[in-house]
Amino acid sequence: MSRPHPAPAARILVTGGAGFIGSHHVRTLLGPGGPAGVTVTVLDKLTYAGNPGNLDPVRGRPGFSFVKGDICDRELVDDLMAAHDEVVHFAAESHVDRSILSSAEFVRTNVLGTQTLLDAALRHGIRTFVHVSTDEVYGSVDTGAWTEESPLLPNSPYSASKASSDLLALAHHRTHGLDVRVTRCSNNYGHHQHPEKVVPLFATHLLDGRKVPLYGDGGNVRDWLHIDDHVQGIELVRTGGRPGEVYNIGGGTELTNRRLTDLLLDACGAGPDRVEYVTDRKGHDRRYCVDWSKIRDELGYRPRKDFATGLAETVAWYRENRPWWEPLKKTMETNP
Ligand SMILES: NC(=O)c1ccc[n+]([C@@H]2O[C@H](COP(=O)([O-])OP(=O)(O)OC[C@H]3O[C@@H](n4cnc5c(N)ncnc54)[C@H](O)[C@@H]3O)[C@@H](O)[C@H]2O)c1
Repeated sequence: MSRPHPAPAARILVTGGAGFIGSHHVRTLLGPGGPAGVTVTVLDKLTYAGNPGNLDPVRGRPGFSFVKGDICDRELVDDLMAAHDEVVHFAAESHVDRSILSSAEFVRTNVLGTQTLLDAALRHGIRTFVHVSTDEVYGSVDTGAWTEESPLLPNSPYSASKASSDLLALAHHRTHGLDVRVTRCSNNYGHHQHPEKVVPLFATHLLDGRKVPLYGDGGNVRDWLHIDDHVQGIELVRTGGRPGEVYNIGGGTELTNRRLTDLLLDACGAGPDRVEYVTDRKGHDRRYCVDWSKIRDELGYRPRKDFATGLAETVAWYRENRPWWEPLKKTMETNP
């Protein structure tokens, strides 16, 4: 195993840095213990999923700046690329259910936006481009785990748009030699996640005394990755990964949605009567599972957050931060 060398100083452009994972990455980069010599510009359109408050802890820090804008805006992206060394690309439409209702915005942002960024990165000699993707591009797997060599078999419009952007990113490496590194992670959980996603949706419903809508028979299986561990993996790839390579990032906690719901019921002091089984999501992938031995063996990645602790901390955060999520839920419910 070769451990990454200390990263050189870098001006990093973080797209989607006002969202759940991107903001966590930025707070980590510029927080205590973050790498030396790093400056960060966040480029974010502030869609319904972007929350400028997520960046309050780093606002005003030397080396931080925020640009409100669209990754599809070629002129803006060109200007920004000219002033940066590296890109970590999170910006995306990220919610599967929304992609089932309408996929146009998913293709625009996830595919065309990524292409706009990649082409500008080439024009401006970007040193490293980390493209943050998802395990969903591999599709459902009944047993075993997908490796980085497995075929891409996405099933939802969301995962199809992410798979398209992965292929474009890798093509920019193979065709032009751009140093692109792709990460494919499992389901993230943690604080500051938009309440449309299952863990905060269920936690906040339960904290409000409501029932939670569980899809189908509750038997769909996901691997859960704490946000801190995901950011740890992204940083290992950014600083020590190899150009043109894909790295799966797993969390090591496989649960059926029914089991996850039971754990959330316990954490919120609620009983099984608070579960309402609802019609399954269309095309719902049964199980995702990635083999993350490559990032472990090459870069020393290990998920550090024990799931029980991570979930308890997450529920506690939602319990204590109603002003953060209550307006988001109100918008979700009045303007779905
Ligand atoms: N959340 C997960 O469990 C998970 C799992 C695997 C992969 N991912 C991937 O990680 C990345 C980040 O996910 P997240 O959960 O933080 O998403 P998120 O929805 O919380 O945040 C997305 C951010 O991108 C911004 N954005 C959207 N369209 C934009 C555009 N056209 N231009 C500029 N900014 C735009 C939004 O304003 C928001 O701040 C995504 O690429 C997603 O596909 C997420």
